[in-house]
Amino acid sequence: MSSTPIVVLVSGTGSLLQALIDASADPAYGVQVAAVGADRPGTLGQARAEAAGIPTFVCRVADFPSRAEWDVALADMIAAYSPAFVVSAGFMKLLGPATLARHTVVNTHPALLPAFPGAHAVRDALAYGVTVTGTTCHLVDAGIDTGPIIEQHAVAIEPGDTEDSLHERIKVVERAMLVDVVGRLARHRFTVTGRKVTIP
Ligand code: GRF
Repeated sequence: MSSTPIVVLVSGTGSLLQALIDASADPAYGVQVAAVGADRPGTLGQARAEAAGIPTFVCRVADFPSRAEWDVALADMIAAYSPAFVVSAGFMKLLGPATLARHTVVNTHPALLPAFPGAHAVRDALAYGVTVTGTTCHLVDAGIDTGPIIEQHAVAIEPGDTEDSLHERIKVVERAMLVDVVGRLARHRFTVTGRKVTIP
């Protein structure tokens, strides 16, 4: 069986991307990272893709007259690689209606949604004083981290945790979850009924 092409979107260090690249080296995993897109040049994520021989593209909001035009351009750049779906792996821009109309997008978030949506989930969980947080893999809709949930894993907060120490522990769990979910989505047809995502 041939591998399922995906496009991965990154903004930062790309350790989630690296986990997907490493997993896809095994043909049985069933995923081919067809391209990696970034919202700014010079990210470590882009360098990881280049090191693996994966095509990359950059789509910067600042290069377009409006956010709407950036959204259409991003949808086009993704479509050039004909992915079965897109993985937002630490991509720190909200995707617009053009991209979401044309592509199924999977996101990971470093908190147990619907708690602590947004860009500062780890900091917000620590500040709130919860003793358990975690990570969520979900489909992207028009809201901020509001799409149907695919999978979640808990991570305990330890005394003395800082935002960095907690985020690093969450990312260990997040990487394993993302590799598992992306592989299952790629190898099986999945259905979405209301807020329920079913992967056989
Ligand atoms: C992840 O925790 C992701 O959920 C968050 O940013 C982190 C990305 O990590 N939005 P990396 O760039 O893949 O190492």
